[in-house]
Amino acid sequence: MCKLNLSQGGRKVPLADLHIHLLPYVDDGSPDWETTEKMLKILAENDVKIAAPTPHVWEQNWQDIESRHRGLLKLTETAEKYGIKIVGAAEVWAIPDIPERWGKVLPLTYAGAGKYLLVEFDVAEMPLYTEWFLFQLKVRGVTPIIAHPERYFWVQRDERNLFRLLANGALLQVSADTFLHPETPAGKLALKLLQKGLVDFLASDWHRPDEPYPLTLAVQKLKSALNESEIERLVWTVPTSIVSGQSVQPAWQRSPLRSEIQAFTGEIESPPQKRRWWQFWTLW
Ligand SMILES: [Fe+2]
Repeated sequence: MCKLNLSQGGRKVPLADLHIHLLPYVDDGSPDWETTEKMLKILAENDVKIAAPTPHVWEQNWQDIESRHRGLLKLTETAEKYGIKIVGAAEVWAIPDIPERWGKVLPLTYAGAGKYLLVEFDVAEMPLYTEWFLFQLKVRGVTPIIAHPERYFWVQRDERNLFRLLANGALLQVSADTFLHPETPAGKLALKLLQKGLVDFLASDWHRPDEPYPLTLAVQKLKSALNESEIERLVWTVPTSIVSGQSVQPAWQRSPLRSEIQAFTGEIESPPQKRRWWQFWTLW
């Protein structure tokens, strides 16, 4: 396993991984506790200090939502042996009736703090209710984090679909393994998003220990393209701010594409107003 050897003035930069399928028995990630322990050992070898297990919460298993976090206490205790802090979270499928299910959504935010929620979308098509969904989160004080936008065909086809989500207050989590496949559409888009300064943080989306841990490999690969402080922002500073419930300035606000994205903000926040009769009258 390739170890991260990134130094900041002589100290090693740790990793915080906020998208990982570490909890056993709940989804297509770790199948049992033995596998989870293997994963924890590898995470420790890779200097991961914080891990947020993010079991899938799909439409079909929403009724069984409480079981998504079954075992979280045991995982927290096991991970302590490896010097890893566990933060509860989930990867929630974007559904249109989220207001009705709000009581069940809150515990799925990072650390249950009601500040940040990891959401995933249909790969093939952008749902018609996407902006409405994000708005429902924002009005309840929750910042949506878009999981692996580089994989969505509707973003690959037209990046303005993503700009619209950013203008609606979303943050972007790009998955580390896409940087290991730069020839794919997802790999090309991930690199482009990074170069344009739109990525808020990286995470592994790691499912099982027979696959190499991708966050370390991606960081090694990106060292030639990014400076150390930028890498630290992506794998430690922003993720730790999220798990501690601090506010994060979206990366796009410092991007060269800022004004292009802001154009969507203007469209959304300032719809044309119909004039009332006295407004016409004052013009006369
Ligand atoms: Fe995932």
